[in-house]
Amino acid sequence: MSQYWSDIVHHLTPYVPGEQPKLQNLVKLNTNENPYGPSPKVIAALQAEAADSLRLYPDPDSSRLKAAIADYHGLNSNQVFVGNGSDEVLAHVFQALLKHDQPLLFPDITYSFYPVYCGLYGITFETVALNEQFEIAVDDYLRPNGGIIFPNPNAPTGIPLALSEIERLLKANTQSVVVIDEAYVDFGTESAVSLVNQYPNLLVTHTYSKSRSLAGLRVGYAVGDAGLIEALIRVKDSFNSYPIDRFAEAGAVAALQDEAYFQQTRQQVIAARDQLVLGLQSLGFEVLPSGANFIFARHQNYSGEQLATSLREQAVIVRHFKKPARIAEFLRITIGHEAQHQALMQALRSVIQA
Ligand SMILES: Cc1ncc(COP(=O)(O)O)c(C=O)c1O
Repeated sequence: MSQYWSDIVHHLTPYVPGEQPKLQNLVKLNTNENPYGPSPKVIAALQAEAADSLRLYPDPDSSRLKAAIADYHGLNSNQVFVGNGSDEVLAHVFQALLKHDQPLLFPDITYSFYPVYCGLYGITFETVALNEQFEIAVDDYLRPNGGIIFPNPNAPTGIPLALSEIERLLKANTQSVVVIDEAYVDFGTESAVSLVNQYPNLLVTHTYSKSRSLAGLRVGYAVGDAGLIEALIRVKDSFNSYPIDRFAEAGAVAALQDEAYFQQTRQQVIAARDQLVLGLQSLGFEVLPSGANFIFARHQNYSGEQLATSLREQAVIVRHFKKPARIAEFLRITIGHEAQHQALMQALRSVIQA
């Protein structure tokens, strides 16, 4: 604390990201990174970019990347916004599109950055409880609001919402922006990108951090009506003209050009998830249905805290949320590769059979 702080800083409760441990040899299943490295074509593009041209600023409009994303989704470039990770894209979305007199709505159990942005930008919000099965119930959002945002699949539950339900929400809610945060969509959830040309109030965000294995490059984007995108560009150009550096643009474009690698690795993650679910169920875990690259699981005989602590003692780290109480017994486990799953299962067996 310091007398020099702006007033708002005293009242901020910042987001706490999952731990990035300095220790080697940990089985790291806590931040939903991809167990596979990026496409070799991305590495080659990054190497080519390490050149004299780095003395020059990058393209402030990231035109090449926007065109590649637009082409990938069958949209126009003016329907695409790119940023330094989807967290930055979301920050601009909150400020540009979700700050209104009526409260913003999002689930009570969801990505914990949403209330943090509300604190930063002074946005009033109300949380909407997930149903008994930990699902998003669209009917509960059909009330006056200044905007609606949720991830699909939701985090940290991993549960997907059917596209027909999202369309039902869009049909009923036409007066405010609906943001679908599709950070994990490529792991088996239906995307709402196919609806953006029909609904001018729909914005869909994606990240390169998960299915494209590029969490370290920091690239995210939003697609939607050109009017919504224009609002994001105005905020971005009032904040930082160059959020996408030369490496990020080159790497992100190259990633989109290697569809075969993308398909192969995402299918491997999905297959590994299905195997891990079976393994955990055989140890007595209840696992929520997942359309993501992580699973959310609890055990009736062992507390979430006890399991997370024992795993850590055995050099396996997973994410455990102490709050809210409804999810305190769950562990969120990122899908890893075969050897990591074996280490996880072995560590769990030693606790559960002890
Ligand atoms: C639901 C959700 N949205 C957005 C993000 C942000 O991803 P990034 O900033 O790496 O693009 C995350 C990261 O974990 C997430 O879980």
